[in-house]
Amino acid sequence: MTHLLFSKMQLRGLELKNRICVPPMYNAGWTDDSGLVSDDHVAHYAALAAGGPALIIQEATCIDPDGRLAPDQLGAWSDEQIPGLRRIAEAVHAHGVPILMQIHHAGIMSCTDVKLCPSDYAFERRGRLLEGKEMTPLAVDTVREKFIAAAVRAVEAGYDGVELHGCHNYLLCQFMNRKVNRRWDSYGSDDMKLVLEIVRGIRAAVPDDFIVGIRLGAFEPTLSEAITHAQRLDEAGIDFINVSYGFDHEQETRKPEDFPFKDVIYAAGEIKKAVRAPVFAVNGIKSADKAEAILQETGVDMVNIGRGFLVNYNWANDAAAGLDTGKCIECPKCYWRRQRDTCPGRDMLEKLCKEQ
Ligand SMILES: Cc1cc2nc3c(=O)[nH]c(=O)nc-3n(C[C@H](O)[C@H](O)[C@H](O)COP(=O)(O)O)c2cc1C
Ligand code: SF4
Repeated sequence: MTHLLFSKMQLRGLELKNRICVPPMYNAGWTDDSGLVSDDHVAHYAALAAGGPALIIQEATCIDPDGRLAPDQLGAWSDEQIPGLRRIAEAVHAHGVPILMQIHHAGIMSCTDVKLCPSDYAFERRGRLLEGKEMTPLAVDTVREKFIAAAVRAVEAGYDGVELHGCHNYLLCQFMNRKVNRRWDSYGSDDMKLVLEIVRGIRAAVPDDFIVGIRLGAFEPTLSEAITHAQRLDEAGIDFINVSYGFDHEQETRKPEDFPFKDVIYAAGEIKKAVRAPVFAVNGIKSADKAEAILQETGVDMVNIGRGFLVNYNWANDAAAGLDTGKCIECPKCYWRRQRDTCPGRDMLEKLCKEQ
């Protein structure tokens, strides 16, 4: 029985048809240095929407060319990018599915030489030493204004809302993690100051029905700090909290031994107990039964099905019909990032379909 998974829910002014969200997933190599939307993006998001999710959150879309995670990342830093973004929003809306734009700045993880960070900070990642430079007060102000400007472009392009990228090592999670943010000014004494200013700034600049949510680190660096972050965002009127992993070099993950799902899903359940806003859970949710069990046991409002949709664009429709949704085998580095035709999960599903 998957009665919760296929029940409706309210997200600000939107009625969502089920509890299945496609989380942001960056598509490498689909655009160039311009950050403009390509035909591949439009076709991909239209196909995801046709697969029956209640909500799609578009891949990390950068607010500043200097803050890109890769040279071929989608952008919302210029008005020239609006017409292409509008094509994605319209293609998704044609299937009756709302779409949010994940707005992002990579900070220390930037592919450019400008490695912004709340404080001077260095760490090694995949054999590379990343060295972040403490941001000046002016740089902090500029980033805040660029997040707000990108959200306004999302309004102009017809999106239903934005999700701030506040996890996975990127700039906003660097600010929220006290091990990375060692500033002496008010942006250090209050680790939420920048994020809350961005949330309030966006809210003041967009229409009332526009959704403003955040993807937040579950352990930043601990769960108890993540709960405090979530509560402060809740008080500021955030529309949803999408819980994923925080700054991976500094986070302290933990869950009770008998909890049957991943630590990040446990954290989403604990955050849910502490806030009013809807909470989304993610990571390794492969089947409709598992999704239903997570909704029931943790009380979260929404599940994200990421790689499940890369394996099977029709994931939600197949789940609703009681069919096999396919299985992502969690390749150590998802081939979808660079070689989308090399997906073992998709190959297995196609073989199964041919045999039936
Ligand atoms: C190819 C790929 C690209 C991703 N890009 C993003 C991204 O742009 N923004 C983000 O917050 N997470 C990104 N993620 C993480 C996913 O949103 C999701 O959290 C992760 O895949 C775990 O969920 P899953 O087990 O359902 O796939 C990406 C994951 C994959 C596999
Ligand atoms: S390439 Fe591997 S990890 Fe990525 S979706 Fe396919 S099976 Fe899953």
